[in-house]
Amino acid sequence: MTAFFNTGLTQQQFLDQYWQKKPLLIRQAFANFESPISPDELAGLASEADIESRLIVEKGSASSWQVSHGPFSDQDFTDLPKSHWTLLVQDVDKHVPETQPLLTPFQFIPNWRRDDLMISYAPIGGSVGPHTDGYDVFLLQGLGTRKWQVTDKALHDTPLIEGIDLQVLSEFEHADEWLLAPGDMLYLPPHFGHHGVAMNDCMTFSIGFRAPKQTEAMDAVLNELLEQGLAKRHYNDPDLQVVKHDHEIGPQAVENLKQLLHQTIDDAEPVLLNTLGKLVTETKPSLIDLADALFSESISSQEVMKQFDQGDTLQKSPYHRFAWAKNGMGGDIFVAGEVYRLAQCQREHLILLADNPEITQRDWQQLSSEPEAVATLCLLIAEGAWLWQTPGDTIN
Ligand code: SIN
Ligand code: CO
Repeated sequence: MTAFFNTGLTQQQFLDQYWQKKPLLIRQAFANFESPISPDELAGLASEADIESRLIVEKGSASSWQVSHGPFSDQDFTDLPKSHWTLLVQDVDKHVPETQPLLTPFQFIPNWRRDDLMISYAPIGGSVGPHTDGYDVFLLQGLGTRKWQVTDKALHDTPLIEGIDLQVLSEFEHADEWLLAPGDMLYLPPHFGHHGVAMNDCMTFSIGFRAPKQTEAMDAVLNELLEQGLAKRHYNDPDLQVVKHDHEIGPQAVENLKQLLHQTIDDAEPVLLNTLGKLVTETKPSLIDLADALFSESISSQEVMKQFDQGDTLQKSPYHRFAWAKNGMGGDIFVAGEVYRLAQCQREHLILLADNPEITQRDWQQLSSEPEAVATLCLLIAEGAWLWQTPGDTIN
């Protein structure tokens, strides 16, 4: 059983006792932590058009916040006040591969639940205001000190400050307050109120998770049903009673509709795995251009073999999401919202194709015994989901 940082808990105990339930402060979760990225490098990322970034400036009174979206120029940074602002950059794990090892300790949580590593920089006083997030998050202090105030329960329907382009709670009462130093980390379940204020030059690393909303799940199921031509039953009412007013919709009709919807979910059972796999591997809209830029020519298995023979390896594209599932004698690989069905496939091959970060010549030798696995790999290389790397070169 693997330990969950230095908490004395196992990973499973953390999940049982804290995950989606209550906050946990972990002092020195990352001992002697040194940020792998400087504030200047973060500003450099925020100047790039393909990278999602925001600047949030607090303007004197508590109800005045100004939000602007990147890319930002040097002048934008020069024009900032000395204090009370925050720069936030999303998906740094994908843009700066050196930050990826920070996510390794979270691999005991399914990859598809993970969203990104967001990094913020703020001078003294910088804050994005008291707010809630819909997702689980680990807030790792990367530089300087931040004061965090946190509620002891999830907040739903709490009023927000009106008229600003930012979700800031208009009322906020905290239950706990902590000062976080580099290496300290705070876990927050979804919807717990939190307010972090920079005490000095401060960087916070947010390891954020995600989960589809009911309506997103229903929409994905509906699309899959339409694609597969399933769930074609009509509304039915074999117990229909004589009505007095024929324009009235009575409670029994609503009940029948509910039954029809339940039946639809039952009918969707055979396609739920497909639906989930496709939904959770869809490319994030802000990363689509970067993912599309990796498309390449179609490649034959002989060419693949030749590249491995030259000593090249394959590395997973940082912008494509991968998932897999065992399915009968074979398995499904999900990449960027598409499913690749392998009718006969060993679990080990699914892991090589969709779980590990790299495919080496040794892995290739193992895969090449299975024509379906080889064909899928060729397709994924052409999609840009697997990228060739020559020893000594780096991706990005
Ligand atoms: C921040 O880094 O300033 C905010 C992170 C968060 O509250 O989610
Ligand atoms: Co937050």
